[in-house]
Amino acid sequence: MTTSAGAFGEDLTRASQTSDSWGRYYTSPIVSRSLIDSIEASKPKLVLELGSGSGSLCTAAATRWQDAKLVTVDVDHQAFKRLSTRNVGLKHRHSHFVHDVLDEALSDKIGLTLGTVDVAVCNPPYIRPRWRSDFGKILEAAGLSGTLTSVHDAGADLLFLAQNLRLLRQNGKLGLILPDGLVTAEKFGRVRRALLRQHLIEQVVQLPRGVFKGTEAQTYLAVLSKAAGETNQVVLRQMVQDGQLSAAIQVPQDAAEKRLDYTFHVRKLPQAASDGHRRMTVREALTDVVRGTVCSSAIADAGRPVFHLGDFAHRSEEQAVRIVPKRFALSDRAARLADARLALPGDILLARVGRDLEDRLALVVYGPCVISDCVFALRAKDEHRERLYRFLESDPGRHALASTAHGVAARFLSKTNLFEIQF
Ligand SMILES: C[S@@+](CC[C@H](N)C(=O)[O-])C[C@H]1O[C@@H](n2cnc3c(N)ncnc32)[C@H](O)[C@@H]1O
Repeated sequence: MTTSAGAFGEDLTRASQTSDSWGRYYTSPIVSRSLIDSIEASKPKLVLELGSGSGSLCTAAATRWQDAKLVTVDVDHQAFKRLSTRNVGLKHRHSHFVHDVLDEALSDKIGLTLGTVDVAVCNPPYIRPRWRSDFGKILEAAGLSGTLTSVHDAGADLLFLAQNLRLLRQNGKLGLILPDGLVTAEKFGRVRRALLRQHLIEQVVQLPRGVFKGTEAQTYLAVLSKAAGETNQVVLRQMVQDGQLSAAIQVPQDAAEKRLDYTFHVRKLPQAASDGHRRMTVREALTDVVRGTVCSSAIADAGRPVFHLGDFAHRSEEQAVRIVPKRFALSDRAARLADARLALPGDILLARVGRDLEDRLALVVYGPCVISDCVFALRAKDEHRERLYRFLESDPGRHALASTAHGVAARFLSKTNLFEIQF
């Protein structure tokens, strides 16, 4: 275990009576869980937390990723004693270091190679340490030099973010809590632009004020994927007091560069869709959604036609509605005997996987019919079916599906993300 490098500057950003020279505001379990749950990483080997405090975030991370090695760093000697991970039997896979995160040579001091961390979680201190030459090197190595008008704007939040970026591997995930400044202030516009262009910012969630004891500061939860391509659209949400998340809104890169807060952008959304109807989520328009159960390798032996990805007709000017061909319709008897989940007449079929999933859409008129596990059947309420179909067929609808789908190589659409699309 290393020791602290000392030499910290004064606290400048917190004028309140409760301000703390190391910016020690601890994350509540509800926010920790929400942050960890919003990171899509299946089996990370190495999870890092810089500024781990009493360990709320890394404990949630260690609970979710039970095989991961955990590395935590905090300058506060007392923090380790309070680390809650010590109580959940993680000793053998947890290394803690007492050290200054803003040391340019941090990676050597904590025995990590730059660019190797799979998942980093962080709630940085919101203080402004006195400028040191190390900070310039850290910002530069993270691709953030030249984004600040003045070195006085380099807060520990930005510097911690930069250190995390240096340590993460490509496509590694960073889940962090951010203060209002980096998310909304005009002077950080170039920081946001650099981050949006260099990384995939997956989502930003505006947290309720007062989630951190001792401060009413506005904070956000953000998840990004390092160097996983440019961010063309950012998903913004708001968390309400009980931890529930609002429906998502999508904000294009140029608007996200201006600010990344949900409440600002949601106000700008038209209350009614362009066709004059009240805006609603896909979830509100449906009574059910069915995912097929026949996997592609079982289609040939299924003994009946199974509607799969290749069976979607291409979009065409002539065909107003793309209809599932009659040959897929089962007789009543066959439908009763079928041991697969069925799509029914009136259902809207969508591809749930594939590079061009937004182009695959069909309406079931003759049915019921069997669908593969790569297809969703959306069962819309009668009064919304036509409008939903028209939306999904339209350019904005295809765009919403495309930007909601996840995955770098094979893209897929989750039910949760589909439900949140607004039309
Ligand atoms: C906002 S608290 C967050 C604590 C914990 N991660 C959480 O979410 O509850 C920030 C932490 O960073 C630590 N810290 C502040 N400056 C630091 C520095 N330069 N190097 C390492 N740790 C630092 C503080 O001691 C504190 O524990």
